[in-house]
Amino acid sequence: MTTTIAVIRGDGIGPEIMDATLHVLDALGAGLQYEFVDAGLAAHERTGELLPQATLDAIARHRIALKSPLTTPVGEGFSSINVALRRHFDLYANVRPAVSFPNTRSRFAENVDLITVRENTEGAYAGEGQQVSEDGATATLVQKITRRGSERIVRYAFDLAVRTGRKKVTVVHKANILKSTSGLFLKVAREVAAHYPAIQCNELIVDNCCMQLVMRPEQFDVIVTTNLFGDIISDLCAGLVGGLGLAPGANIGADAAIFEAVHGSAPDIAGKGIANPCALLLGAAQMLDHLQRPELATRLREAIRATLAAADTLTPDLGGSGSTQGFARAIAARVG
Ligand code: NAI
Ligand code: MG
Repeated sequence: MTTTIAVIRGDGIGPEIMDATLHVLDALGAGLQYEFVDAGLAAHERTGELLPQATLDAIARHRIALKSPLTTPVGEGFSSINVALRRHFDLYANVRPAVSFPNTRSRFAENVDLITVRENTEGAYAGEGQQVSEDGATATLVQKITRRGSERIVRYAFDLAVRTGRKKVTVVHKANILKSTSGLFLKVAREVAAHYPAIQCNELIVDNCCMQLVMRPEQFDVIVTTNLFGDIISDLCAGLVGGLGLAPGANIGADAAIFEAVHGSAPDIAGKGIANPCALLLGAAQMLDHLQRPELATRLREAIRATLAAADTLTPDLGGSGSTQGFARAIAARVG
């Protein structure tokens, strides 16, 4: 079976970590074909556009994209391309696993294995009704939460738990204070949870959740929450397991899904061949799960784990002196 995916090589360290990732995917025998398309600075230099229509068309056609980080040029008129992609394809679920790996300089190296499912389209970040009064003294913002938006994200989280054999979903909210918005989210979450009797559902207020995550991260399995809370919590979770070099993320909608590393284009180390490819590789593993090839995803994750454990090809961010390509070759040698 051949599947074609859209591939965005991106900016800065993007092409280096993408080449490394595709090398490993090929060694894995994933049978993927790639259509290379541009976005970000690379696209802007070539076409004058940050997000060319041809790129949108390719993602719509293949429904799957693997994407390296993009540099958003600083200056007027440029909004984030990542946000534009999320909006265009209505990628409502931001899915970020945080898993302990060896030799990652993490404070919680052992037992973390959780996934944050963040609602990606609503709430404070939707930017509705942003206003600053004329005298600059008062700023307002509309925070809108809908039944539809809440239902689909909570359903996504429970379906993910069922599909991946996870046992527990924690609904994170602040319904005690944000009675209308967070209240609606919690109410809908309870209704959805009732349809999944085999999955344990518990509720946690967001501030307590942050404390619990730091004190006992191993108690968490799947976390589902609204946009702003999810943004903060998912970074906290990335920090628990050793930071940006190991944090992948997926943006998933009904018609398309984009898999990526959480980190940016790292201009400070671009072109040096020392970027850690693990985050994008773990994003590729999420993609394989999404393509219903879990056995390949597991083999990829195990090869990454074994290579980190061997510690002889680690990149400088992990305390080693290895290169992106050397690291990738060591992983590729283990996926067969
Ligand atoms: P960054 O994540 O690119 O870099 C932060 C620090 O982490 C730097 O010191 C960098 O060298 C290091 N780092 C990041 N990824 C690494 C890796 N794989 N291996 C080793 N070290 C790594 O964040 P920054 O500097 O704030 O942003 C740079 C550019 O990236 C900006 O143009 C920003 O807009 C863009 N960006 C793009 C994202 C995306 O496309 N998803 C996400 C975040 C930022
Ligand atoms: Mg964030």
